[in-house]
Amino acid sequence: MGRMHVEVGREYNMSGLKMPNIGLGTYPMKGEQLTNAVIAALECGYRMFDTAHNYCNEDHLGNSLKIALQKTGITREEVFIQTKVGEEHWEGINDMKLFSKKEKNECKDIFAIVKDQVETSLEKLQVDYLDCVLIHFPYPDYFLEIWKALEVLHKQGTINYIGVSNCRERHLKKIIENCEIVPIVNQVEISPVNTVQSVVDFCKKNNIIVQTYSPLMPLRHKLKDNNVLLELAKKYNVAVSQIVLKWNMQNDCIPLPKSSNPERIKQNITLNFKIEDSDMLKINALNENYQSLPQSIYCPGY
Ligand code: A2P
Repeated sequence: MGRMHVEVGREYNMSGLKMPNIGLGTYPMKGEQLTNAVIAALECGYRMFDTAHNYCNEDHLGNSLKIALQKTGITREEVFIQTKVGEEHWEGINDMKLFSKKEKNECKDIFAIVKDQVETSLEKLQVDYLDCVLIHFPYPDYFLEIWKALEVLHKQGTINYIGVSNCRERHLKKIIENCEIVPIVNQVEISPVNTVQSVVDFCKKNNIIVQTYSPLMPLRHKLKDNNVLLELAKKYNVAVSQIVLKWNMQNDCIPLPKSSNPERIKQNITLNFKIEDSDMLKINALNENYQSLPQSIYCPGY
C-alpha cells in the first residue's frame, strides 16, 4: 500500500513536504472580487487555495493567482493549489452525467474523463502541475475507477497529491482495501455542531489529513449567538470565528474558510492563541450532528 506522507505546517516547504495549515476557500468568488481576495490572502500569509471543477471559477482563480503572485513576488512553487474532479452540477441524480451509469453494465472510459478534467484544470489554472486533486464526492458508480485514474495521473507527474472529499469511513476503507495509494486528504464539513468525530478518528489512524470546508457557515444560523462560543471569544479576546478556526486546527484539521473581505481574510489566519483543553471539550460538547449543507445524494448516511 503506497502512502504519500505529508506534514502539515504553517510554512510551505518548497520540496512539497508540507501542506499549509489553513487555506482560502474560493467558492463562489470570481473576477475582481476573487483577485482582491487572493492578493489579500497572500499578503497576510495564506499559501493554499481550494477550488473545484464545479465551482466554475478555476479560470478566474488562475487569473487571480497570476496577478497576485506578480504583485506580491510570491512564486508558484510557494503556493498550494488544490482542485477537485467531479460532476458539472451540484446535486440531483439527473445532473449526474460524467460519473454515473445509465445502465447497470455500462462501462465508461473513466480514465479519459478524469484525465480530460485534470487537463482542463491545469489549463484554466494556468499551471503545469497541481498540488492536490480531490474526488469531489464518492460517486457510487465509479468511485474506485476515478481514484485509480488519479493514481495514474499522480504517477505521471502532473499532480503532487491526491485525495477525496465528502467521504465517510466506508468510502475510505474501500480505497484503502482496493487501491494502491491512501488519500492524502479527506475534505469534509466540520463545525462545533457537526464534529464528525468518527471520520476524524479514522483519518488520523490512517494518516489522512482532514480539511474542513465551510468551517464558519454555522455561525450564520445554528451557532449565531451561541453562549459557549461568545464566552470563549471574550475570554481569549478574539472573534467567535477565530475560536471556531482555532478549534479546527487544534483538532488537527485544516480549515478552508472562504471570505471575500480583506479584514476577515486576515482575521481568519490571525490565530496566535491556544484554546485550553477544558475549553476544547466545551466546544466539542456542542456537537449535534448538524450538517449545514444538505447531505449529498452521492454519500448519504454514515
Ligand atoms: P464574507 O465573504 O463576506 O467574509 P462558506 O460558508 O461558503 O465557507 O462562506 C463563509 C461565510 O462566512 C461567508 O459568507 C463569509 O462572508 C463569512 N465569513 C468569512 N470569514 C468571516 C469572519 N471572520 N467573520 C464573519 N463572517 C465571515
